[in-house]
Amino acid sequence: MKKTIRAIALLLCVAMLFATSVLPTSAASSFADADNDGRILSADARIVLRASVGLSPWTDEMLKNCDIDNDKTLTSGDARLILRLSVGFGNEDDSCLNGMEGAELVGLTAKDYKIYEKDGITYIDGILIANKTYPLPSTYNPGALLPECKQAFNQMAYDAYYGDGIYLYELSGYRSYATQNRLYNNYVAADGKQLADTYSARPGHSEHQSGLALDVNSVEASFAYTAEAKWLAANCYKYGFILRYPYGKTNKTGYIYEAWHIRYVGVDIATKIHNSGLCLEEYYGITSKYNY
Ligand code: DAL
Ligand code: ZN
Repeated sequence: MKKTIRAIALLLCVAMLFATSVLPTSAASSFADADNDGRILSADARIVLRASVGLSPWTDEMLKNCDIDNDKTLTSGDARLILRLSVGFGNEDDSCLNGMEGAELVGLTAKDYKIYEKDGITYIDGILIANKTYPLPSTYNPGALLPECKQAFNQMAYDAYYGDGIYLYELSGYRSYATQNRLYNNYVAADGKQLADTYSARPGHSEHQSGLALDVNSVEASFAYTAEAKWLAANCYKYGFILRYPYGKTNKTGYIYEAWHIRYVGVDIATKIHNSGLCLEEYYGITSKYNY
């Protein structure tokens, strides 16, 4: 039985390796491009597969570009991911790149979403990512909540109040790198680094710096039990927001439960994430861990 499964897997692998679709690599990157010909083809997957079993040598450069799963070695897993890229596989289409000329493909998530980088900012599925793994540049400074986020919040607050008598207000919205630096260091001074890291982002890692996130009403743990928090959890996706640090997801998000912190991702993605019951990290298959 095991042998049959192995034989089928091998056959599938070989058949897939002869698939011929092409995905152009972005100009500046040779990500997944084992032979450096400017394209990601099934040939690249074949080269990596051969290298992974010792049939051909590999260089440091090739390791850097083709270690898609970042485990510091070339394996058939990397070949599989390259192959999936070459045939255009992915849980998102490239329409998410609209208006993002120059975005560079830099990786693939555990759930096959393409990771793009532009101006030092990470994007997956067309949305900006800021967490413990993916920082924002210290110079990134929108100066205020972005208009789409502000408008969506105003609409939500209006509907909550006039529809259901629920009063929602912006307690803390945009925070600059410098403000977050001050805030985080104050928390470290009061509680120590280990504890501070469970509830406050290090500078460069806060979603508040993105201009796409805000804290609503109160940052007290008791807020979770209020009618306002319950309304927010049940309805914010309809306005394009997700509850970013949900209850029970600390080991995925890297932060304790925050019933007040919402993140604007647009109605389509917010609805998908809400219906999935997953947090953002689980939904896209990414980590949230500091590497320093
Ligand atoms: N409290 C959240 C994690 C932040 O500091 O951005
Ligand atoms: Zn927050």
